[in-house]
Amino acid sequence: MTIGAGPRGPGVLVIEPMGNAGRFLVEAAGRLGLPLYAATRKDIHDGYPDRLRSALAGVCATDLTDTPRALADMEAFCRQHAIAGIAACFELFTPLAAQLAQRVGLPGNDPLLARAARNKILMGEAFAAAGIPAPRWTVVHDGAEAHRAARSRGLGWPLVVKPAEQGGSWGVSVVDGPDRLASAVGAARQYTYAHPHGLKLDARALVQEYIPGAEYSCETVVADGVAYPLPVVRKDTTEGRYRIETGHTCPSGLSAPLARRVQHTAARAALAVGVRNGIAHTELKIPPGTATPYVIETGARLPGDNLCEIIEAATGVNEAVAYLQAVLGRVPDTVASATDAATIRFLLPEHGGVLRQVFIPQTPGTHSELHLRPGDTVPEPADSACRIGHVVARAETVEQARGLADQVAARSRVEVG
Ligand SMILES: Nc1ncnc2c1ncn2[C@@H]1O[C@H](COP(=O)(O)OP(=O)(O)O)[C@@H](O)[C@H]1O
Ligand SMILES: [Mg+2]
Repeated sequence: MTIGAGPRGPGVLVIEPMGNAGRFLVEAAGRLGLPLYAATRKDIHDGYPDRLRSALAGVCATDLTDTPRALADMEAFCRQHAIAGIAACFELFTPLAAQLAQRVGLPGNDPLLARAARNKILMGEAFAAAGIPAPRWTVVHDGAEAHRAARSRGLGWPLVVKPAEQGGSWGVSVVDGPDRLASAVGAARQYTYAHPHGLKLDARALVQEYIPGAEYSCETVVADGVAYPLPVVRKDTTEGRYRIETGHTCPSGLSAPLARRVQHTAARAALAVGVRNGIAHTELKIPPGTATPYVIETGARLPGDNLCEIIEAATGVNEAVAYLQAVLGRVPDTVASATDAATIRFLLPEHGGVLRQVFIPQTPGTHSELHLRPGDTVPEPADSACRIGHVVARAETVEQARGLADQVAARSRVEVG
């Protein structure tokens, strides 16, 4: 079924543009003069923000959880609208995008490997096969199995328990001893279907070796199998059991050789999970005293957390434009045109409850956005769903950008009752 305007191609079909990076894809399509089409479910489209709905040239309404039906509906839509590129936005639909691209003969990722970019068990196997530095891991179904694995695999403490298929740190725990292992496995296995499409998830859990050190992220855009590295970003997280991003800064502050190593490892990770015409967001940690980036995960999608905005503010590179170019089979524009800095800081609550008040001061060089409003329920700070808002700071240097963002965060007031 088609909602909205008739054929206007050639354009790009985005499989579920709702979510953080969708906004950047819409802007990028505007800059490239490309019609952008969406594949989604009708009731989900009905709930799109006006800005997203009005930006779309047309919508393929289907059931994305029913793969044969979704592929048939989207294939017909692609032919009708002269679609020239397939993009994914939600990580969970990146394998579907690869299958569709192959079926309609458009540039795309390797459909045989694409599931490894969504499922951390297959991802671990792909990294091991490619010899990419990554934490050691094992699959577990319950607490008893996790105890046996922790002993027999010599993973040491702390260790990390996480769901095979999830994001946003949902269900991820850093466990410092045997007492909390069983409850961490329960938390990792609680997700059986993903909101809002109701996509069935692999509900197995992984127990992973803990990699110490600072954390970074790096996108790689790949066009016709050629990897183009994008800027490295420093990622800050909470400490302790739940690791939630508290902010990101670009550039990363790493020395040029180490940043190149991060880019190289991220590119290897992207290629290992079959990214051929697309983009990958890779997260890495560098253990103290080493120059070896370990890959924590990669996803065949644009980054979340407004990273597109941070990277463009710092370097002039628009990752969403580069992604659209790659899915169209064009050479992506990845050359930096600026040497500035940008930081995003998230406002997190100390505990869950109801948001009573929130105040973020206005400071030159910064802008802020609220994610929750007074009266909204604030989830416990166990994953990224608890974010109350964020501030973005732009400056000439990393120190200035971080300092400005920290200043605004320190002067912000969040009251949760
Ligand atoms: N093996 C690990 N060693 C150290 N920290 C980890 C490890 N796995 C995950 N983490 C921490 O937990 C965060 C969330 O885990 P991640 O695997 O990225 O899951 P998600 O897909 O939910 O983002 C990471 O950004 C990192 O800070
Ligand atoms: Mg992650």
